[in-house]
Amino acid sequence: MTVIAAYSGTFDPPTLGHLDIIERASHMFPKLIVAVGLNPSKRPAFTLEERCELVQRAAAELKNVEVLGFEGLVVDFARENGVTVLVRGVRTVGDVDYEKQMAVMNRDLYPALDTVMLAPSPKYAHLSSSLVRELTHLGAPVGKLVPKAVAPDLLERFGRRKPRKA
Ligand code: COA
Repeated sequence: MTVIAAYSGTFDPPTLGHLDIIERASHMFPKLIVAVGLNPSKRPAFTLEERCELVQRAAAELKNVEVLGFEGLVVDFARENGVTVLVRGVRTVGDVDYEKQMAVMNRDLYPALDTVMLAPSPKYAHLSSSLVRELTHLGAPVGKLVPKAVAPDLLERFGRRKPRKA
């Protein structure tokens, strides 16, 4: 039986930290689905379709990676797509506590689903999508934080507009 893993997240936008986890997980499992979802307590800046498209572009070279959007419970997504491993990135001690809670709850809801937590590469340990959005808005260079395929859309959406000449 082929193990299908899913890396779930909001990806608003996807960063190099996310791509690091996608690449590493794609080497660990025969098939990896990037499950682009919604945390009910967040209001994403990019639509679900836009976030799927951005992840798709960023991971285009990884042939065993598929990108799918979902709404509702991640366990329902897992059941419908034959997913038995959920991949999550954990950056801080706070992340570990939160992820442990979600892993236990998800396994309670769907016992066939186990969660694997990957630590990010150190250079991405403090990266987050909201930080990237803020830095872009304030005019900081983000070339080292997001995939090349994501930067133009990010700048278009959040970049500082140059004042028009009179
Ligand atoms: N590199 C960079 N940033 C990372 C990262 C990494 N490796 N791993 C996590 N992050 C950041 C994200 O950018 C995000 O930053 P932000 O808060 O600034 O936007 C933050 O960590 C949280 O990650 P995110 O992917 O948004 O996860 P989440 O905890 O909000 O979960 C879902 C999103 C969609 C997977 C989750 O809410 C879910 O499963 N929803 C479905 C509903 C459900 O089943 N709920 C019950 C769960 S028990």
